[in-house]
Amino acid sequence: MKRFSLILLFFINFIGNIDCASGGSSKGTYQVLDSVTHIPCITLQADIYLYLTYYTTDGESDVTVHIPTTSTVDSSVSSCDTIVSTSGLSIKSQLLRILPYHMDGWSIDFAFTKDNTFRTDNEKQYALFQVNITANFASDPTSFPNAKDSTQHYYVHIDPNDISDISTSIYATSGNAYYCPSKQKYAINKDSKYGPYAYILLQTTTLQAYQTGVSFGQKETCSSDQSVTDMIPIIVGSCLAGLIIITLAVYLIYRSCLPEDVINLVNPESHYNYENAIKIDDEDDIAHIEL
Ligand SMILES: *[C@@H]1O[C@H](CO)[C@@H](O)[C@H](O)[C@H]1NC(C)=O
Repeated sequence: MKRFSLILLFFINFIGNIDCASGGSSKGTYQVLDSVTHIPCITLQADIYLYLTYYTTDGESDVTVHIPTTSTVDSSVSSCDTIVSTSGLSIKSQLLRILPYHMDGWSIDFAFTKDNTFRTDNEKQYALFQVNITANFASDPTSFPNAKDSTQHYYVHIDPNDISDISTSIYATSGNAYYCPSKQKYAINKDSKYGPYAYILLQTTTLQAYQTGVSFGQKETCSSDQSVTDMIPIIVGSCLAGLIIITLAVYLIYRSCLPEDVINLVNPESHYNYENAIKIDDEDDIAHIEL
């Protein structure tokens, strides 16, 4: 019995944790509106962390930067229809620029596309193909001590033959939203050829580009969270099966403790009596043969 309640407790705890992961923590909401219709074309909801390496006067240093959830959108640069020129390509895009709150000279660009250079299933899907960060270390020397350069530009290098992790992970069918509650960390630059390293971490993420309505479309859960979602029916099923077994066990134990009289009272056909009945019958038969 103790073991059963322990297992139950474990399951309840597990389900509780899933709940905590999918909500509760704070996140920022960033929207780009169509200049004519004022309907959003990009909505990004996420809690964002940056992991940046920067050159110091005597080497390198690593910092983690949390992007305040009160950050805003730069509507003069953000666009529902623009061309991003990068690595000799001109990519038709939608662009979101976030200006981190109280971080002068900082910006984060998110560029989405349906272009076939990326895995967009013949433009049926959109993907986040580039994330660029402009850091201004000079704005906060206490957080970024000994910075050699006052600013640093970090960007996802585009190579059509080697598509980045971020664009093969963050995508959805047009009209749908991408949904990923768990923490996902992606490289922005992990090749020293293109400057110091940078990573971005997104959590409690819901995003949609090429949006045509005011609210999110159907949510497509990212692959790493699908297993958790798929587990829930199994966990609930196991809990119910466990409860049935406990109930049955308790009943059988209780029943076996009852005096025979009570069992006969409730069910006169119970096996005690039944066995006796057969014995009597047998005796009768024997008696009959003897006669
Ligand atoms: C990101 O930075 C690269 C390199 O400077 C540039 O070519 C590209 O246009 C930028 N993309 C966006 C979306 O800002």
